[in-house]
Amino acid sequence: MTRVLSGIQPSGALHLGNLLGAVRNWVVDQHEADSFFCVVDLHALTSVQDPAALRDNTLQLAQLLIACGLDPAVCTLFVQSHVRAHTELAWLMECTVSFGELRRMTQFKDKSDKAEFVSAALFTYPALMAADILLYDTDRVPVGDDQRQHLELTRDVAIRFNSRYGDTFVVPEAAIPKAGARVMDLQQPSNKMSKSLDSPQGTIGVLDPLKDIEKKIKRAVTDTDGEIRYDPATKPGVSNLLSILAACTGRTPEQAAEGYTQYGPLKADTAAAVVDTLTPIQRRFEELRADPAETARLLAVGADKAASVADEVLGRARNAIGLLPR
Ligand code: TYM
Repeated sequence: MTRVLSGIQPSGALHLGNLLGAVRNWVVDQHEADSFFCVVDLHALTSVQDPAALRDNTLQLAQLLIACGLDPAVCTLFVQSHVRAHTELAWLMECTVSFGELRRMTQFKDKSDKAEFVSAALFTYPALMAADILLYDTDRVPVGDDQRQHLELTRDVAIRFNSRYGDTFVVPEAAIPKAGARVMDLQQPSNKMSKSLDSPQGTIGVLDPLKDIEKKIKRAVTDTDGEIRYDPATKPGVSNLLSILAACTGRTPEQAAEGYTQYGPLKADTAAAVVDTLTPIQRRFEELRADPAETARLLAVGADKAASVADEVLGRARNAIGLLPR
């Protein structure tokens, strides 16, 4: 059976880009593949976090993933730091990836330009991500478009390790969706929608009040030529709305554009499609919130299942690289 793994950081609120680019596809994957999904709390530590907020956000994100449709009885849902093998394999990955490769990562450049304090871990972040993936003999990694470069690096590192030390890791492939892979900011449609707080009017939080979401979509930046067609280069705002509408209604952006002649109805239908997508998620999240102990129990079961796979692969890697067995 195909093995799938993906992860998401518990920093900031889950937004529509995370949902359409990644989480929604995980919900489908869990029924088709042996699937592992993790809340990557260690990755969140690459920027300074308030400890109490990190704990709350980690639990809340797990609840929100379940509200989005991940079923811990079907997939393995866990918290990255609960499975110690991740940090240990990350070291072996740091010893396999080159400084030059890490320096070429565009996410590091973007994030370090904005950060006041640039941790060493922000630089080595892709080595931990490679460990997350390789620990589970992962075939497929469903992610949004912004993770493409990290996935290519993971493949290069796996291939290098295998050729240096013998066949140890499965070389994974990225799975990037056709619609929703790059949801853009509603106010600055040439930037991707992100968890950072710089653009609250441009970002749709999965838990935002539905009225606010309608307003944000109605105020989304478009352009002045009045034409409705999917052309991200020259019409980024309209194309973003079409991508969102398409991803929420299971079509391509070109199909979603058919029949519209004005921006008003396109915005109204996009808002309605987003509200329809988020309403059941918000309702389920409210129910789950009432029982944090149950979520913690489910995460402990997930961590045990994940560890049993990860420990075996870590043992293989330790052995291949020449660490003395104890
Ligand atoms: P993170 O937490 O930033 O994002 C989680 C997922 O959401 C996708 N995504 C988007 N998709 C479409 N449009 C957007 N605007 C948008 N913004 C985010 C991301 O592509 C991602 O799939 N490094 C990863 C977390 C990670 C990971 C892993 C992923 C750690 N270990 C192992 C896969 C496998 C990250 O920071 O994602």
